Amino acid sequence: MAKAKKKLVFFCKECGFESPKWLGQCPGCHEWDSFAEAPAAGNVTESIKGRLPGSVHRTPAKLNEVQAGEEERINTGIEELDRVLGGGIVAGSLILVGGDPGIGKSTLLLQMCRLLSGQGHKILYISGEESPKQIKMRAERLGSFSSNLYVLCETDLGVVSETIADTKPGIAIIDSIQTMYSEDAGQAPGSAGQVREATSVFMRLAKSLPVSIFIVGHVTKEGVVAGPKTLEHMVDTVLYFEGDGGASYRFLRGVKNRFGPTDEIGVFEMCADGLKEVLNPSEYMLQGKPENEPGSVVTCSMEGTRPILAEVQALVCQTNFNMPRRATAGTDYNRVNLLMAVIEKRLGVRMGDYDAYINVAGGMRISEPALDLGIVAAILSSYRNQAFDSKTVCFGEVGLTGEIRAVNLAEQRVMEAAKLGFKRCIMPKANSQKLNIKESALNGMQLAGFGSIYELLEVI
Ligand code: TYD
Ligand code: MG
Repeated sequence: MAKAKKKLVFFCKECGFESPKWLGQCPGCHEWDSFAEAPAAGNVTESIKGRLPGSVHRTPAKLNEVQAGEEERINTGIEELDRVLGGGIVAGSLILVGGDPGIGKSTLLLQMCRLLSGQGHKILYISGEESPKQIKMRAERLGSFSSNLYVLCETDLGVVSETIADTKPGIAIIDSIQTMYSEDAGQAPGSAGQVREATSVFMRLAKSLPVSIFIVGHVTKEGVVAGPKTLEHMVDTVLYFEGDGGASYRFLRGVKNRFGPTDEIGVFEMCADGLKEVLNPSEYMLQGKPENEPGSVVTCSMEGTRPILAEVQALVCQTNFNMPRRATAGTDYNRVNLLMAVIEKRLGVRMGDYDAYINVAGGMRISEPALDLGIVAAILSSYRNQAFDSKTVCFGEVGLTGEIRAVNLAEQRVMEAAKLGFKRCIMPKANSQKLNIKESALNGMQLAGFGSIYELLEVI
């Protein structure tokens, strides 16, 4: 019997939009010339399909008879990584680790492999980018390795998947998905079709063996993992490794997690001998903070279950153009514009005549509403050229009428500020009235509940 012709579709490399014919502009994301041809989704290459172990669940199960219980998890030995994963690696899960080139993805995963293989887990590290010698050179900076860690330098998807199926490791690393190549998918390595094909093969392998697979994915200029967005939909967990190019801090952020929360972050520092965990990020974030300088305000943000103190800096100066300039780093540009409009309207400060630059120091990105009050205080402090007390922390959401609204988890934020020796904490009035903290835990810190941003004017 003649083999059925494989169905081909066109899809957008940027957003994954599918179409039966080639299009110049994508109707999904309006990108030009972004369409590529690939086998239809789920059409796993025939030659590889035959070699995969069959799926176990053939008959539908009754949901009320399914035994749930806790997922079995493997602790990596890196606390910050375990936290982002939701308490360790779930057996048979597919995890995408995205990030800019050179940020430290390979280093982090190799460090994890070192610890896991030391615990007796069988690990297979597959690299399509480096030779065994190069991997060894990196490994030597990290310390000694046990004999449970195997490396394979290969880019052929067929060979890679077969090796995983034969070796049956507990955990496999694919570094990186963009280097994997299958002849059946046509196109060049790294193209959307190839990436999609490789991911679907690894997904099947992960679920059927089972083996936990980490996939490294490089990020494009726009900040998304190169290849189709569908890649993110296919995997169980998506982690992004990010940081400020120059600074040595690195943040590992959960973006999607089928087995845990997504708002946790892990903080690392890149050192000469690999990545070090930063267990007290607040202290770290406030290093080098100027004392009593206008435009510098400390605020407290919740990252998952962890409160982190961060410094917001603002620089407000008279504009030389018709249109004032606004720039932000580490926070949302539109939110800052909105807050400046609130200041202009409610406090009568003519923000339209001023340029404003806002920066969350330390390279972290915060998009929490509780940051609002810190931003407003920093802007006012820079505008009036009056320092905001450097032993005061403030947090709270600012509404359109200038009211300061309650935020969640106020206790944790207050405790963190007290722990780090701050003397005063300005917070939403609604929070301060319901606060449930022992006097002794405050460490002598004063609490101030503010109802509106007018009250800020009295402290700046
Ligand atoms: P790498 O893990 O290769 O990045 P990625 O895989 O995300 O592309 O990280 C490379 C960078 O990290 C490189 O600039 C060197 C630096 N580095 C250290 O500072 N210390 C170390 O111990 C290692 C292994 C790398
Ligand atoms: Mg790498």
